[in-house]
Amino acid sequence: MVDNEAILQLQARIGSEHLSKRLQRQTEHSALRFTPRGLEIHWENIEKLGTTLKVLLKACGLFGRATRNSMDYKVETVKVPLRGLPPSFRGFRILHLSDLHLESILDRGRRLREVIGSLSYDLCVITGDFRFHTYGDYEETIARMAELTTAIHCPHGILGILGNHDFIEMVPGLEKHGLQMLLNESVPIHRGKDTMWIVGLDDTNYYGTDDLAKALRHVPAEATKILLAHSPEIIESACEAGMDYYLCGHSHGGQMCLPGGISIINNSHCGRQYIAGPWNYQNRMPGYTSRGTGASLLPVRLFCPPEITLHHLV
Ligand SMILES: [Fe+2]
Repeated sequence: MVDNEAILQLQARIGSEHLSKRLQRQTEHSALRFTPRGLEIHWENIEKLGTTLKVLLKACGLFGRATRNSMDYKVETVKVPLRGLPPSFRGFRILHLSDLHLESILDRGRRLREVIGSLSYDLCVITGDFRFHTYGDYEETIARMAELTTAIHCPHGILGILGNHDFIEMVPGLEKHGLQMLLNESVPIHRGKDTMWIVGLDDTNYYGTDDLAKALRHVPAEATKILLAHSPEIIESACEAGMDYYLCGHSHGGQMCLPGGISIINNSHCGRQYIAGPWNYQNRMPGYTSRGTGASLLPVRLFCPPEITLHHLV
């Protein structure tokens, strides 16, 4: 568990208002709540749902296939034309992982490390949901992330943000293993004579502790800015704030889909066009929603393979 000193350091870094809101909502996070928005159901917290899904898949003869699918990683390569990209960043490659839900990976990440180890990239970003559950311990999550970092090698390091499965107390442990977590913060990336910025938000989905204005406070208005947000739910405000590219996950692309990748449930309050893959909001801001590298509820996937994304900036 995290010590008081680490909490005080977090408080000094992000402010007591952000920290107390986060901690309060973490305490409130439960399977079913009445809120001003109505009844909030957190499917991932309903343990019996996982058991029911397992029974259903077994009854249909699909459990073995769905389980194997959860580690059949597909590397998606995306060419990203960015307006105003500084010349030194042409050809810059970003490895994008999302929704790892580390403790549920059946082979403890062996296959994932193999696939990542075969790739070349300049920067790695992880758009939240490191942990499998949304509550309880996170020591195993941190231990598994430490193992995964042994396969990630790139000159500009690993940047991460928190998702709705992650507690803010996980930040010191993740950073101890080489990640730089962005909590409504930004970091400049220098290459050649040029600079671009990676802007990272706290969870945009459940916790609502994202603060884009705060994250942008040190970023020059004219700079190239790539946003890391856990979910695709703040596209409009991100576009208005002048983001050049929006990277997210959270939806898992539906995870258990109908043939053709048609999602049944995606847990996101946004249009279907933003649930998975590349999109372009009003032809003003391109973005990409990862189907996720891991799986929620159970390590199973149907018609929606887990993905490792390589973004090539051009
Ligand atoms: Fe997730």
